[in-house]
Amino acid sequence: MDHISLARYFWKNHLKPGDIAVDATCGAGNDTLFLAETCLRDQAGLVYGIDIQKEAIDRTEALISENLPPAHRSRVTLLHMSHAPLPSQLPLANLIVYNLGYLPGSDKSIKTLSPTSIVSLESALKRLLPGGLISVMLYPGHHEGLFEAQTILNWASALSNETYGLSHHYRPNSSKSPSLLIIKYRT
Ligand SMILES: C[S@@+](CC[C@H](N)C(=O)[O-])C[C@H]1O[C@@H](n2cnc3c(N)ncnc32)[C@H](O)[C@@H]1O
Repeated sequence: MDHISLARYFWKNHLKPGDIAVDATCGAGNDTLFLAETCLRDQAGLVYGIDIQKEAIDRTEALISENLPPAHRSRVTLLHMSHAPLPSQLPLANLIVYNLGYLPGSDKSIKTLSPTSIVSLESALKRLLPGGLISVMLYPGHHEGLFEAQTILNWASALSNETYGLSHHYRPNSSKSPSLLIIKYRT
């Protein structure tokens, strides 16, 4: 199973119709659309997509408009801003996802960075409902991505085991492949 399918397997198993999901790095909008298709119903559920790049917000908006019925489109809110920290007006969420790095086919200099990713993850802990999940896709295949992945895994390993359940999914035979960190806010 590739890394994106693995993350979506977790998301699909976790989300129920009517839940609230946040995509903190909406990029081309593929993950935001997947979250919307998984948890939105006509009168229920909310999805938020955040990206620091206007191009990403525009691409996500176009994908949402093309693929969701109007009643669902109005339940998706896109925010052109940094995710560090997550805005305090966000409702508490069942799932907050990060797909780190840069937007393929776009300006590679605009990418997630360790200090801001940690600020964002700290704020994500405060915006989770009990039982909620944070999903973080890490890309250790290049120098900066490796540093970011190590920083985030160190940060996560210091979280209280009583409050947060952690799992880290990676390919044991390929240290450069993406890996998935899941943080569960225990009930
Ligand atoms: C790998 S892409 C995300 C791909 C996306 N999930 C999708 O389905 O297409 C990473 C995104 O993170 C965004 N990003 C980088 N730093 C950010 C920040 N501080 N706040 C919000 N978004 C950021 C980039 O602009 C880029 O679009």
